[in-house]
Amino acid sequence: MSSGTRTLIRGGLVVTAADETHADVLIEHGRIAALAAHGTAVAESWTAERVIDAANKYVIPGGVDAHTHMELPFGGTAASDTFETGTRAAAWGGTTTIVDFAVQSVGQSPRHGLDTWYAKADGNCAIDYAFHMILSDVDERSLAAMDRLVEEGVTSFKLFMAYPGVFYSDDGQILRAMQRASDNGGLIMMHAENGIAIDVLVEQALAAGRTDPRYHGEVRRALLEAEATHRAIQLARVAGSPLYVVHVSAAEALAEITAARAKGLPVFGETCPQYLFLSTDNLAEPGFEGAKYVCSTPLRPGEHQAALWRGLRTDDLQVVSTDHCPFCFSGQKELGRNDFSKIPNGLPGVENRMDLLHQAVLDGHLTRRRWIDIACATPARMFGLYPKKGTIAPGADADVVIYDPHAEQTLSAATHHMNVDYNPYEGTRITGQVETVLSRGEVVIDRRTYTGRAGHGQYLPRGTCQYLG
Ligand code: URP
Ligand code: ZN
Ligand code: ZN
Ligand code: ZN
Repeated sequence: MSSGTRTLIRGGLVVTAADETHADVLIEHGRIAALAAHGTAVAESWTAERVIDAANKYVIPGGVDAHTHMELPFGGTAASDTFETGTRAAAWGGTTTIVDFAVQSVGQSPRHGLDTWYAKADGNCAIDYAFHMILSDVDERSLAAMDRLVEEGVTSFKLFMAYPGVFYSDDGQILRAMQRASDNGGLIMMHAENGIAIDVLVEQALAAGRTDPRYHGEVRRALLEAEATHRAIQLARVAGSPLYVVHVSAAEALAEITAARAKGLPVFGETCPQYLFLSTDNLAEPGFEGAKYVCSTPLRPGEHQAALWRGLRTDDLQVVSTDHCPFCFSGQKELGRNDFSKIPNGLPGVENRMDLLHQAVLDGHLTRRRWIDIACATPARMFGLYPKKGTIAPGADADVVIYDPHAEQTLSAATHHMNVDYNPYEGTRITGQVETVLSRGEVVIDRRTYTGRAGHGQYLPRGTCQYLG
């Protein structure tokens, strides 16, 4: 079916970050044309080539996952989802936009890195996609490139206080990049962990024979996440730039963000489903199973979860993204069987985010509207995609999910669509399931059958962060 088709979604509960209404949704030319209260004369007068019955279902904006790493080269291997397989899995899970990370490698220009990522994604994506840029080599050339990238629609830059020798930037490089962002409107995204100190603890742990995956969690101490978060915030203040802290996992790091926001500083925080639903208990699973849960920042003891849920409710954390960076247990995670520091870092999740957060609504952690806020609307605003993405309103792209809030499912590698041989949420029971997904008016999931195609997804140049004046 082409995006020229007129589609009508009838009788569902339309949930956005702002409100919930029983409304019919009319789609034309790939966009939301109009909404009208269900049963009214206006809504009844509408006709369409395709009518989707959404009675007893939610009609929600497609998810915006602002943190994915398809095909990321890491630790001598590469993330196992390609842009094709990863975006298809995203569609299955009700996500219709990803913002992935293009990488500047050490010694390369950002331009070269970005062009490489454009080529990887071009013609392969099932849903729309955009890029952030990872800067691994902040020098004069990179700083100048930042200005051009912002103009081109790559308006956010990830820096790493961790991974010395790979992605790491020192404080001087971070300050310079923040100063540049404060001038050109870019948003600095920070991987906030003190990687220099962590590497000392890694070396000491390995020398003492502590090679098991659980030591990954022990050496990457919560205090070293908090310290780096604090330092990043102070550097951003000095530079006069906004700051977005990615994958916050430690309560102590969240406390730094909360304190900064209480001062009115433009500091934002993201967490991920793995930090909300998993813990160091998973990292300690015997028989090297813990390797399935190795990511950075690491999973924390269960107590941290309550702080993260609270942060999402109080808006001290604004976004839940997946940091989807899958590595197969077989052949990839196994690279670190005798040395946890050689386990490639990252977890799959792009397909499971919307469902896990719906379960969080049922469990009382979030309201329905907050679910849509943190998963759709706020990431779209944060990264300059709103209201094209992240809401259901006239003029917005018709990226719409028909969500069955009553369906029961069990998350499993046996049924997921991500190209990875395990699921970190294996056996988790979820009430709620994606039924039908539209991307710019095209049905890409039709009552749980994939009807999309690689190449439907379009590249999205982005505006700057919409939370800044
Ligand atoms: O472990 C993780 N998070 N892998 C992906 C790279 C990053 O730091 O986000
Ligand atoms: Zn028409
Ligand atoms: Zn990171
Ligand atoms: Zn990441």
